[in-house]
Amino acid sequence: MSKILVNVALPYANGPIHLGHVAGAYLNSDIFVRFLRMHGHEVMFVSGSDEHGTPATLAADRLHISPKEIADRYHREHLESFTKLDIIFDIYTRTTYPEHRETVAEFVLDFQKKGLLSEHTMVSPFCPTDNRFMPDRYIEGKCPNCGFEEARGDQCDNCGKLLDPQELIQPRCVLDGTTPEFRETKHMFFRLDLFQDRLIEWLEGKDFWRHSVLAFTRNFIKAGLRERPITRDIEWGVPVPLKGYEHKRIYVWFEALLGYISGARVLSERMGKKDYWKEFYFDRDVKMYHFMGKDNIIFHTIIWPAMLMGRGGYNLPYIVIANEFLTFNGKQFSKSRGIGYSVDDILKLASKDYVRYYMSSIMPESSDTDFNLDDFQSRVNGELIDKFGNYIHRLTSFIANNNLKISSSQTKPDETDREALEFARERINNYNSLLERVEIKKALGEWLELVKYANSYFNNAQPWRLVKSDIDQCVSKLYHSLLLAQYCTGMLYPFVPDASARIMETIGSGKYRTHGFTSDLLSQEGSEFSPVKGEPPFEKLSLIKENPNFADLRIGEILEAREHPNADKLYVLKVNLGSSEIQLVAGLRKHYMADELVGRKIVVIANLKPTKLRGEISQGMLLAADDGETVSLLSPLGENLKAGDPVRMGQYGFNNSGKIELEKLKTLELRMETAGDKVVATALLDGKREEILAGGSPVTSHRPVKEGAEIH
Ligand code: MF3
Ligand code: ZN
Repeated sequence: MSKILVNVALPYANGPIHLGHVAGAYLNSDIFVRFLRMHGHEVMFVSGSDEHGTPATLAADRLHISPKEIADRYHREHLESFTKLDIIFDIYTRTTYPEHRETVAEFVLDFQKKGLLSEHTMVSPFCPTDNRFMPDRYIEGKCPNCGFEEARGDQCDNCGKLLDPQELIQPRCVLDGTTPEFRETKHMFFRLDLFQDRLIEWLEGKDFWRHSVLAFTRNFIKAGLRERPITRDIEWGVPVPLKGYEHKRIYVWFEALLGYISGARVLSERMGKKDYWKEFYFDRDVKMYHFMGKDNIIFHTIIWPAMLMGRGGYNLPYIVIANEFLTFNGKQFSKSRGIGYSVDDILKLASKDYVRYYMSSIMPESSDTDFNLDDFQSRVNGELIDKFGNYIHRLTSFIANNNLKISSSQTKPDETDREALEFARERINNYNSLLERVEIKKALGEWLELVKYANSYFNNAQPWRLVKSDIDQCVSKLYHSLLLAQYCTGMLYPFVPDASARIMETIGSGKYRTHGFTSDLLSQEGSEFSPVKGEPPFEKLSLIKENPNFADLRIGEILEAREHPNADKLYVLKVNLGSSEIQLVAGLRKHYMADELVGRKIVVIANLKPTKLRGEISQGMLLAADDGETVSLLSPLGENLKAGDPVRMGQYGFNNSGKIELEKLKTLELRMETAGDKVVATALLDGKREEILAGGSPVTSHRPVKEGAEIH
């Protein structure tokens, strides 16, 4: 038994946790920790909110609230989402805790004393419109590496390359589109260059890492490590404990990593064992595991170990496990763009057990994998329910219906039983060594093999015949069937803990009742059962409902507005829909000046049959609310939204059913309704009023209109 430290990348507290996050690091680490604990290891399982950084300030700037409010809200929501999925950390820390600031200050002052910091003048983007230095992320432009048009100033989301805003082609400020100036400012740098050799040497012992992680890291080092700036000209962040830096803050990555240590400190204090964390960071026998998505690799394989080396005395990461990405019907998950499910959304459709099961079975470990509802439903129904749940139910109800007592002392294993035990032993051994290497998908594969085997063992034994002809033999077969059930359920526990606990009760595992989930459940010795008659353990999953949404709603961006030549109420608009441009005719001249329209993001119905209005073609319709006094365009919130992005009605995207007439559209009874403190757009779909959502947030009007306002 040993101590093991499991650190999971602290997610930015600036938007909902979605299934992409869950598959990237949180579910696999939780499974691993449950597995370790079954085997008696003493684990410290740490994650928390990465509260600083420009993602939070960006979100705050957009909603006109403080970054702290954003962080408070999402910290609470993230913790709730994880808990609802049975992902349970020992500490879910925050980088705004005082202990965190103290830890950061200690490291920075120590680095300064040791000559690991240097000061340089650097050139930073300065937005003349906002009159301040802009964080790298506030600058976007074309990626010099891959040509992606929306690369951010710190990193390209398309090719993953770390960037400097000055490298961007045609840079612009995301708040107002201004071309930034590049001005001089002083910053502190971390001497990463001094760690090149030590890092190479450290990596020499790491051939057991995933090849992709190792190769990526080695290539990065080979290109030569340079000093890295660790301060920023911003207000939201951890203060810099150095003279002359009172108005600057520590760069988010440089401090967030230290959240692992400060989180462990907070946990120790809460436990009343102040120095407990030191055992994990200073005892040489303790292994430190890191989990994250692949975009986090360099920070954890280069910067983090260099920081720990620089500080001295600390353990270095034992292994860095980075998953690939999860896609949703082939597209990158993005809550802000309405692609894929947040944890809360998916839990409205399916239980946590089903979500955990399916996510485990498609874990993106060696390549990107795809989440889709058909596959979700068929995996859960076909494997978890038909193969496993039914087996448990057939077995336990047979025993109960025949009033049988199953005692291990009555069993006399024959050749088939010995074979079964042997087969199970192999599966369990493989499973254990796979999970030790955090091979989630393959470990679950071993489980499924054993479940299938157990089914055929039971069928071949034909206890319904033996019960009449040879009761001893019958009991012996049932005992072995229960043993296989206990193995399967024990193996399933790390993946699907809640259902596994229920099933252990149903099969009446004596070991489980006395010790809970331990690896003891995976051995034969001392196994006794008193199964109970119960309901089938699972309900069928039925996810695929007919999608009733026939309106192709999308974000459009007005490119041009000209007056209609023959109608004094109408504009002729040119609208960008991402992949195409269309012309719309709209009766807005009494309500908007042409230059108020250009550049505005709107909601467009893109699948109306085209019509001619006074000689000008209109290839769709834009949505505007009208309460009799005010007319306002519907304006999707969120700077991340792009022309062409889908707009949903509740959970429904467009069902691809083709073009529609205006009359059909009217059946949606589009209107504004109050939701919380906002008035939002809604539609009547299949008898239910659904909110119209862009990027996961309800669509509102930019001019206030009254509840009940009609949309047309
Ligand atoms: N917040 C980062 C992300 O979501 C991860 C930070 S990991 C940490 O990509 F260790 F630095 F906190
Ligand atoms: Zn790129």
